[in-house]
This record gives sequence, C-alpha cells and structure tokens, in this order.
Amino acid sequence: KSEKIWLTLSFGMIMGFMILTGYQAFALGMGTPSGQTTLDPQKVDQTAPFDKPGVTQIGENEYEVVMTLQIFSFTPNKLEFPAGSTVHFKLTSKDVVHGFEVAGTNLNAMVMPGYVQEITQKFDKPGDYLVLCNEYCGAGHQLMSTTITVK
Ligand code: CUA
Repeated sequence: KSEKIWLTLSFGMIMGFMILTGYQAFALGMGTPSGQTTLDPQKVDQTAPFDKPGVTQIGENEYEVVMTLQIFSFTPNKLEFPAGSTVHFKLTSKDVVHGFEVAGTNLNAMVMPGYVQEITQKFDKPGDYLVLCNEYCGAGHQLMSTTITVK
C-alpha cells in the first residue's frame, strides 16, 4: 500500500531531522572547545573583559560583545548592529548554566560559570532577533530573553 510507504518515509524524515538537530545542539552547545578560557565565576565583575560588559566596534563591520548572563538576564540588554555586521560574542555566566540562542540564526551555545564562550555570527538580514536562554536556570527561566536589532 502506498499510504504505508509514505507514512514510513515521513516518519523516517522526522527521525532524521531529530537526529540532525540533536547533533547540532550537541556540536554547538555541549562542545567545550579545547583552549576555552576559564575564570573565577565569583569574580566575574572584577575580571577583564567582563568588568566592562558592552559593545565595542573593532573593525569596519565588526563588533565585539562582552556579555554576562545571570539569573534571569543578559548584560548588556538590547543590542543593535548595522546589517552586514560580524559580531564576536564573549560570554560567561555569573551563576548557573544558561543558554544563548538567537532565533533565526545558528547561534546556540551553552554558557557555563567559570568559562568564556566565544562565538561569532554575521548578521545580514535586518530585523529583530530574539535572544533566548535555552537551558533551564530556575523559576524565571522563561523570562530570560532579550533582542538583537539589526538595521
Ligand atoms: Cu537562563 Cu534559562
């Protein structure tokens, strides 16, 4: 019966997709690249560059973002870049494990206390990009979000 074949096929595709996204989450989020810098999570505020979280323009279409994550917010909150910008993120957590996921991009990283997570993303399309914490971090986890505006 052809229905059965289609059912099997679509089931197979869903499974394939799940394996793929699972792998991506693993490769992007869980992977702790060797050579990742460490810092004392108790002293984030006194440790450069996290003593001055913010955005610095480092090239013609290039920016560096130094950001701390803490229950239940991102510092700095609200980022804005011109379209076509390449943005280098340096992230760390001040308390528990958080996630840094930017909807509409491949950005999806785990941000752990004691580690500096470095990721780069180019933003070509103008718009508001929703930034979410995708690791459960406590009662306010659902509220932990911000936006990146590209224009
Ligand atoms: Cu931070 Cu969930």
